[in-house]
Amino acid sequence: MDHVRVGLVGLGTVGTGVYKMLQENKDIITKKVGKEIRVEKILVRNKDKERDPEIPSELITFDPGDILENDDIDIVIEVMGSVELAMDYIKRALSAKKQVITANKDLIALHEEELSELAHLNGRDLYFEASVAGGIPIIGTLKEDLAGNKIRKIMGIINGTTNYILTKMTKEGKSYEEVLKDAVALGYAESDPTADVEGLDAARKIAILGTIAFDTKITFNDVYVEGITKITKDDIKYADELGYIVKLLGIGMNVDDKAEARVHPVFISKDHPLAAVNDVFNAIFVEGNAVGETMFYGRGAGELPTASAVIGDLMKATRDFINDTMGSSYRKIVKRKEIKDISE
Ligand code: NAP
Ligand code: HSE
Repeated sequence: MDHVRVGLVGLGTVGTGVYKMLQENKDIITKKVGKEIRVEKILVRNKDKERDPEIPSELITFDPGDILENDDIDIVIEVMGSVELAMDYIKRALSAKKQVITANKDLIALHEEELSELAHLNGRDLYFEASVAGGIPIIGTLKEDLAGNKIRKIMGIINGTTNYILTKMTKEGKSYEEVLKDAVALGYAESDPTADVEGLDAARKIAILGTIAFDTKITFNDVYVEGITKITKDDIKYADELGYIVKLLGIGMNVDDKAEARVHPVFISKDHPLAAVNDVFNAIFVEGNAVGETMFYGRGAGELPTASAVIGDLMKATRDFINDTMGSSYRKIVKRKEIKDISE
C-alpha cells in the first residue's frame, strides 16, 4: 500500500482541525513518515449539518462500521467525545487491529489501562497526547523523554477556561459570574461548563498525567477535586496584597512512594513561573530526580493546537504501523535539507 488509510470519528472542532492540518502540512508529514497519510472516511452524527466545503462529502459516513470494521482502514482517530460510545468504538477498532488515537480525556481518565491492554493484545497501540493540555506535548515527554526520571511532582494549569476566568478576575477586577459568561461565549468552556469550573476537567487531566508520571493507575475517581466557583473578588484581592495569585492547579505527588492527585485553587507566589501563565494558556511544571525542575507551556485547547497533538500521535502511529507491517527492518532514511534552502 502506497499510503496509510485513516478513519476519522468526529468532525467537530478537533476533527476539522485534524483534517485541515493534514491537508495544509501534507508534504512535511509525508516526508517525515515516509508515506502519505490519507483520510478515507469520516463518521459524523447529524445528517442536516452544513459541513466545511473543503471536506469532500463522499468521505462522510453515518455508519460506524464503515470505519471500525473496514479492512481498508489502518488507523482510527476518535475525536467524537463521550465515554460509553467512544469506549465501544475504540474497543471495536482495536479488536479489528487498527491503531487508535484519541483526544478523549473523559474516557482515558477512566479506562486507559483497559484500552491500552486491549491494544497490546491486538499488537497495536493507543495514543492520547491530545487528551491533556491541547498542543503541549506532555504525555510523550513523560512517557519517553523523562521516562528515566523518578517524578516527584507534577503540577499544572490544565484547564484554560478557569485560567481565563481567574486571569480576568485578577487583572480586570471582574466578578466570577461576569467572566464565566465570556468564557462560554468565546468557546473555551466544555458544552457543560460545570466540568471546567468545578475542576472535573482538570481532575481528568491530572489523573492521566499522574498515571503516566508515576507509572501507576490513577483514575478520575481517585482525585480530590475542588473548583473555582467559591472564589470571590476579595480572595483575589487578599492574595494580591500578600504577594500571591490565585490559580486552579492540578497536582500529582509522589509522597513516600504513594501517588496522590488533587485539583483545587492555590495561592501561588507571584515569583513562581506558573503565576505568569494567563488567559487560556496552560502550563505544566514537572520535577524529576535527574532533570530537576522543568516547565511546558502552550495552548491547552482549540482547533489547531489540539490537532497538532493528534497529528503528532498520527505520525507515531503510522511509523509503528509501518514497522509492524513491514517488519522492524523498516527505517526511514533521513536526508536533511541544505541550509540555504529549506523550502518543501
Ligand atoms: P465537537 O466539536 O462537539 O465535535 C464532536 C464531533 O463528533 C462532531 O462532528 C459530531 O458529529 C461527532 N459525534 C458526536 N456524537 C457522535 C455520534 N454518536 N456518532 C457519530 N459522530 C458523533 O467536539 P470537539 O471539541 O471536537 O472535541 C472532540 C474530543 O476532543 C472530545 O473528547 C474533547 O474532550 C476532546 N478535546 C477537545 C479539545 C478542544 O479544544 N475542543 C481539546 C482537547 C481535547 P456532528 O458533526 O454530526 O455533530
Ligand atoms: N474546556 C477545556 C479547557 C478544553 O478549558 O481547558 C480543553 O480540554
